[in-house]
Amino acid sequence: MPAASLLSSPEFIILRELLEREPEFVSGSALAEKLGVSRVAVWQHMEKLRGQGFGFEGVRSRGYRMVRRPAVLNAALIFAHLGPRARSVRLVCLDEVDSTNDEAARLLAAGRTAPFVVLARRQFHGRGRLGRVWHSADNGNLYASFAFRPRLEPGRMQTFTLWMGVNICELVANFCRATPGLKWPNDLLFDGRKAGGMLTEARIDADQIRDLVFGLGLNVNSPAGSWPGELARRAISLAEHIQAPLDLNRFTAALIGRVLLAYDRFIDGDYRDNFADLWHRYDVLRGKPVALLEGTRRHAGTALGIDDEGALLLRDDRGRSHRFRAGEVTLEKGS
Ligand code: BTN
Repeated sequence: MPAASLLSSPEFIILRELLEREPEFVSGSALAEKLGVSRVAVWQHMEKLRGQGFGFEGVRSRGYRMVRRPAVLNAALIFAHLGPRARSVRLVCLDEVDSTNDEAARLLAAGRTAPFVVLARRQFHGRGRLGRVWHSADNGNLYASFAFRPRLEPGRMQTFTLWMGVNICELVANFCRATPGLKWPNDLLFDGRKAGGMLTEARIDADQIRDLVFGLGLNVNSPAGSWPGELARRAISLAEHIQAPLDLNRFTAALIGRVLLAYDRFIDGDYRDNFADLWHRYDVLRGKPVALLEGTRRHAGTALGIDDEGALLLRDDRGRSHRFRAGEVTLEKGS
């Protein structure tokens, strides 16, 4: 649904009013007045919301308050959590899609006004880097793509995914008081297990980035034991790490706000001053023995962090430094 019609829907207005007054009650007549309908009609809209997984406590003479929220993505609730920013956010929220990155690219190609965000509860062709599959079951995790038309020269994009990674780490740290680590160039980790991955894809025309899609897969609420095969050993969700479920819709609203702001700062260029310091705060490789695969070539050394252009720096066993713009890094055993 386009934001404008969702923002004027009775369900959105009820959710916004209840969230704004939490934990107080909001009277049925106040809601009826806001909506310009009868109290019976308010009750009917609340029944509709109950059908989506919301629960309301109603107390005579005090009114209503929200006591349960859906565990799955809910566009009206995400907008209600966005508050005043909701007006400027364009959101496509789907039950399922092949890949949110592919859907975002199709919508950009069809001329949709950017920026916009595509979310899905499930992907049936979720993609990772290097053509890998991104496991994307409907299990409380987040599959999100942010679409932009930056009109920047391609060289400027080298630090984009890294900058986004830093912002997502800061958001997660603030939101659930647990600090993830970043593994160059695109992994979010907890205790060496993967909690999220980023996939940035661009279309370049006449030496300019024309369309840009930033995809994020974040394991938010999937329960331990829900991963197939060897992912059980390698993947972890935020909820599993902090041993408590997260409010997926509140988290998603915070994520949208943060990524859009981070994008603006990236375009302005004012992020550069403290970017390397921030990266080092979350970098899980720095000072560790690592191996980097560049195609079929393997380079071993100690990770030294990144340079201003986002390249990974390695010192080999002869003390020489090397920089890498791309590659697949693994931590050497015992580090
Ligand atoms: C990686 O770690 O290799 C990157 C994973 C990126 C997965 C996300 S999920 C949302 C978006 N849609 C996709 O198909 N991929 C990205």
